[in-house]
Amino acid sequence: MTDVADRATAGFQREYGTPPAGRWAAPGRVNLIGEHTDYNDGFVLPFALPLRTVAAADRQDGPRWTVWSELSGETITFDAADVDEPGRVTGWGAYVAGVVWALRDAGHDVPGARLAIASDVPLGAGLSSSAALEAAVLTALVDLGGLDLPAERQPRLAQRAENAYVGAPTGIMDQSAAIRCRDGHALFLDCRTEEVEHIPFDLRAAGLAVLVVDSRAPHRHADGEYAARRKSCEAGAALLGVPALRDVGVDQLDAALARIDDDETRRRVRHVVTEDQRVLDTVALLRAGRVREIGPLLTASHASMRDDFEITVPEIDTAVEAALAVGALGARMTGGGFGGCVLALVEADAADTVAEAVAAAYADRGFQTPTHLTALPAPGAT
Ligand code: ADP
Ligand code: GAL
Repeated sequence: MTDVADRATAGFQREYGTPPAGRWAAPGRVNLIGEHTDYNDGFVLPFALPLRTVAAADRQDGPRWTVWSELSGETITFDAADVDEPGRVTGWGAYVAGVVWALRDAGHDVPGARLAIASDVPLGAGLSSSAALEAAVLTALVDLGGLDLPAERQPRLAQRAENAYVGAPTGIMDQSAAIRCRDGHALFLDCRTEEVEHIPFDLRAAGLAVLVVDSRAPHRHADGEYAARRKSCEAGAALLGVPALRDVGVDQLDAALARIDDDETRRRVRHVVTEDQRVLDTVALLRAGRVREIGPLLTASHASMRDDFEITVPEIDTAVEAALAVGALGARMTGGGFGGCVLALVEADAADTVAEAVAAAYADRGFQTPTHLTALPAPGAT
């Protein structure tokens, strides 16, 4: 298939009859570790994928936005009145209108624009195609309008688009990854302060690869379950009298759990508190150049998501078990859960063997054939 940036340019030319003023790209992501910690003010460690969403764009007169996407093949148009009332633009256009809304709501003078979108990020696979779309559109509008909005302030705005306009109660991780990741690095993000540290993640030098398997499992009630997990975490923090679960350290965990009667809440809290610690431990190993040793932390994260946070599904657990059975150093679900992708840390020359083992396990159980890719950390929005 033609390069994604060329497809965006060609789409722009075809739809609008002129070449675009420029092209803005933002990547999908995998999260190496730190799941459901972002909205608990905790720590995450995503890295950007080489798969990107590209917006080819130009200004147009008036507060008017026209967007074409290769994926739906349709062109939508909206004006200031549509944007200023969250919910008026629906479907995929809501992600674009939401970005315009969030910028206007923050007082920016957003230029009218025409955009053409093309993407290599699979939709709904837990690789954050929605954040990639938001980030590509946001960076395009910021540049076209010469808006005063440095990169470190952009993720919050894109997140507002998703929370308040689209209506998905997600945290800050995906938009931060799409905008702030660096080539060859994982992004260690403190979701409370939004401070970042770019952690070198040189898989090639270590002779390793990250295999990403798309389970293709249908997302079952993902939205409602995500919101329910968020509620449980907030309830746990309220019971413990802390602003967020981030404020409970692993050394305080036993005492904290003893104060919670409800078993489900206890397990939700245990996941978040131990997961934050696993992120810190992973970062410490990576800083010390001990990449191969992070495997057990990844696998422990998976067990915690499966048993305590209860966000995995049979397809996901099967992929993790199959990968570990043929020698993966560690494996876990990545993303919000209830489907989506699994990542496995593998010896570089074993990636195919591990992928085949997962496919064979899926065939045995009658699951849909999974797809896979090997991922090296790529740059954020450009
Ligand atoms: P994820 O972000 O994990 O891929 P979501 O369900 O949160 O999954 O977001 C996917 C939605 O984002 C799609 O259903 C679509 O509405 C929108 N989207 C993402 N990328 C594009 C694109 N290139 N063109 C149009 N819509 C897109
Ligand atoms: C994603 C969500 C992120 C994060 C993640 C779980 O779906 O967009 O903000 O909470 O789930 O770690």
